[in-house]
Amino acid sequence: MDVTFLLNGESVELRDVSPTVTLLDWLREDRGLTGTKEGCNEGDCGACTVMVTDARGARGLNACILFLPQLDGCAVRTVEGISGPDGTFHPVQDAMVTHHGSQCGFCTPGFVVQMAVAHRNGDHAHDDALAGNLCRCTGYAPIIRAAEAAADAPVPDWMMEPQVQGPDPISLDDLAADYLARPDATLIAGATDVGLWVTKSLVALDDVIFLNRCPDLQDIAITDDTVRFGAGVTMDRVMEIMADRHPSYAEMIRRYGSAQVRAAATIGGNIANGSPIGDNPPALIALGAVLHLRRGDETRDLPLEDFFVDYGKQDRHPGELVTGVSIPVQQDRLRVYKLSKRFDQDISAVCGAFNLRIEDGTVAAARIAFGGMAGVPKRATSVEADLIGARWTEDTVRAVMDRLEADFTPLSDMRASAEYRLKTAQNMLLRVWNEDQGIASNVLEVSA
Ligand SMILES: Cc1cc2nc3c(=O)[nH]c(=O)nc-3n(C[C@H](O)[C@H](O)[C@H](O)COP(=O)(O)OP(=O)(O)OC[C@H]3O[C@@H](n4cnc5c(N)ncnc54)[C@H](O)[C@@H]3O)c2cc1C
Ligand code: FES
Ligand code: FES
Repeated sequence: MDVTFLLNGESVELRDVSPTVTLLDWLREDRGLTGTKEGCNEGDCGACTVMVTDARGARGLNACILFLPQLDGCAVRTVEGISGPDGTFHPVQDAMVTHHGSQCGFCTPGFVVQMAVAHRNGDHAHDDALAGNLCRCTGYAPIIRAAEAAADAPVPDWMMEPQVQGPDPISLDDLAADYLARPDATLIAGATDVGLWVTKSLVALDDVIFLNRCPDLQDIAITDDTVRFGAGVTMDRVMEIMADRHPSYAEMIRRYGSAQVRAAATIGGNIANGSPIGDNPPALIALGAVLHLRRGDETRDLPLEDFFVDYGKQDRHPGELVTGVSIPVQQDRLRVYKLSKRFDQDISAVCGAFNLRIEDGTVAAARIAFGGMAGVPKRATSVEADLIGARWTEDTVRAVMDRLEADFTPLSDMRASAEYRLKTAQNMLLRVWNEDQGIASNVLEVSA
């Protein structure tokens, strides 16, 4: 595969690269650019953060789970390119020195790059921007102080990349035909799952199709009736669009991976992987979303919940790709709760989504879905049935909490026991009631 991109301002043209070589390995082993560090090699620590600029702008990405073809037509800036060509420090580097933001220094290149990306984008939400960068020794306070101190300094000229071209585009028609002809090929979108198959499970992927080349998949279409996300829309953009429409969904996405993961991970990948703990499906199912699929010239739509047939089994045929998902426009009533051991960047033990319509004190409609409670993301149909038509009171809520046992028999695993999952899912129902009554229940709102 041929790949062309800018690296620290200089053009790089690679011929016949293996498509699953990661940027991190290539930088360190082929280019000798060892400033970019390998910590976890699975997207969790941010030590390998690089700045990638494409038509959408600049974002920090984890180089350890980024394959070279995903960079075609982009500009890449590693920590070596964050200081100026004459060695002048970037303002965030100066601030890291002044505020003692580094001790052993292993995490520092990743922090500096991620800070420089936020600085360039005028993003002052430092805690969110840096939630995916781990430091074992310094403590985060000096690092956040450094980010704050540098925030208002002008962006150095060298951080502005020239106009980037993007990869040679391929139409959805051509992509669908290609996949139909090669149904055994692995589709690669953001590679935040597939990357780990390669780096952790050492899977050799012989035949791959990169979806970043298809702009049709990155479309967001908003009409009076629906919000339609192309399968290739990344989670940071989904969060942006949902912020006004369904703030609770957007707030959940703020805790979905890290800024680097959200900038790569796609909504289509999160659905297509069929994970029982993917965070989008519960919210999307509660909103009544419709999934769009395409196989060659044939297209079909189905309610998202019907896509998840069983653990590891989805209603998707060989050669069929997910093209997008549509959410009906509706008044916001959605509550989404992500429960994980760590607040930031952690996979959910349970994710619950609740969309209840209350009219004249009675539950007129209910769509409730959970992740982490079964082998698939799944609706709580017994609870929904008991709620619809019932008076919206605390007694009703407490009574239906027990009905969750009819809907789910969760498993115990390293994230949570079955009992804990059931209990916390039941308590999420109570939380919906409490929030509806104006009782603060968010850990960020409650204080002693
Ligand atoms: C550090 C880290 C943190 C994470 N945190 C979270 C989290 O908080 N919540 C969460 O839900 N997930 C999380 N994930 C998992 C992952 O980020 C998501 O599942 C992500 O949305 C996958 O999207 P992707 O574009 O990266 O998919 P990829 O890795 O590119 O693909 C995933 C799977 O979907 C298939 N696929 C991709 N696109 C399509 C398509 N259009 N049609 C058909 N098949 C397709 C691929 O072939 C592959 O089987 C995390 C991952 C990492 C590494
Ligand atoms: S090495 Fe940890 S995120 Fe890449
Ligand atoms: S300075 Fe040592 S890990 Fe951050």
